[in-house]
Amino acid sequence: MTILITGGAGFIGSAFVRLCRSATDSRIVILDALTYAGNLSTLETDLKDSRVKFFPGKIQDATVVEGIIAAEGVTHIVNFAAESHNDRAMLEAGSFIQTDVYGVYILLEACRKFKIERLLHVSTDEVYGSIDVGEFTESSPIEPNTPYSASKAGGELQIRAAVKAHGIPAVVTRGGNTYGPYHFPEKLIPFFISRLIDGKKVPVYGDGTQVREWIHCEDHAGGILHALQHGKVGESYNVGDQNERTNMEVVKILLEETGRDESHIKTIPDPRRGAHDKRYSMTTDKLEALGWKPKKPFEESLRDTVRWYKDNEDWWRPLVATDDYKRFIKAFYGPTLGEDL
Ligand code: TYD
Repeated sequence: MTILITGGAGFIGSAFVRLCRSATDSRIVILDALTYAGNLSTLETDLKDSRVKFFPGKIQDATVVEGIIAAEGVTHIVNFAAESHNDRAMLEAGSFIQTDVYGVYILLEACRKFKIERLLHVSTDEVYGSIDVGEFTESSPIEPNTPYSASKAGGELQIRAAVKAHGIPAVVTRGGNTYGPYHFPEKLIPFFISRLIDGKKVPVYGDGTQVREWIHCEDHAGGILHALQHGKVGESYNVGDQNERTNMEVVKILLEETGRDESHIKTIPDPRRGAHDKRYSMTTDKLEALGWKPKKPFEESLRDTVRWYKDNEDWWRPLVATDDYKRFIKAFYGPTLGEDL
């Protein structure tokens, strides 16, 4: 296999690169736009491996994508490239449509032109929308509520149609909320860890009773590799770990592990307004029937993640020092955090 891993310098993409290096003998070609959330420092060790090649560029750029496929003899594509932060999409969703919908279309067009054996598209459980009780299965309706999840749903629908219209050999995975090392400090867990390490307050939206289902990035990457190797064309597979926690429960573990008390919690009016999904939950029976199972225990692995951030300040400090990061934090949290920003 020669796998093109798009978005391979990002959080879950880089976990997948590490897994492919250790668990397969494939050649690995990485394409990453190196926007704020993709960093070469994440791939420092991987890029020393002679099986790994890196190209900067966007999946929306057909010339770049097709040039790499032709020159490198790509046989498989795994698409991690995406704009993925709900809060950024609350401010501006155009870049999400560009990457998450149009970018997917460009990859599908490349699959039509070249003999790609498999396209695995990494999606999210957020395409289902919110569920108060019970669990989503792969046949639950696609009912996204946020500008971000609507863009991911748009990408998936392009794939569904391309499988039917052009016979593209595509498989989709829908992952749960993911945590672990090398996560850009803007989503709940890494954002709060970085702030708590610095003794800052953490902004909990509303009452913090929203429920998320958490999976470690290594387990998420494992599920994706399993679906790539064993999944059926045209099918979707949930990749989750049934670790449901309220946001407040997660925050309390982070406080404990960083040695901070509850005075560091600041509840703020919900900036996602009516687009904030209350609960995500899904079954993973379909992928488990193909022989996959997640392995990492949640609480212990979350505590390990906090320790990783404490031990790897060299990785995340430069990221939170950029003008882009400071601009986003100020624009999004400035009105509610005020002097606690
Ligand atoms: P997030 O990590 O952004 O993932 P997603 O939106 O994909 O679920 O958010 C997880 C939960 O944490 C979600 O309910 C929103 C909440 N949240 C906060 O309360 N405060 C924050 O600053 C952030 C980033 C998220």
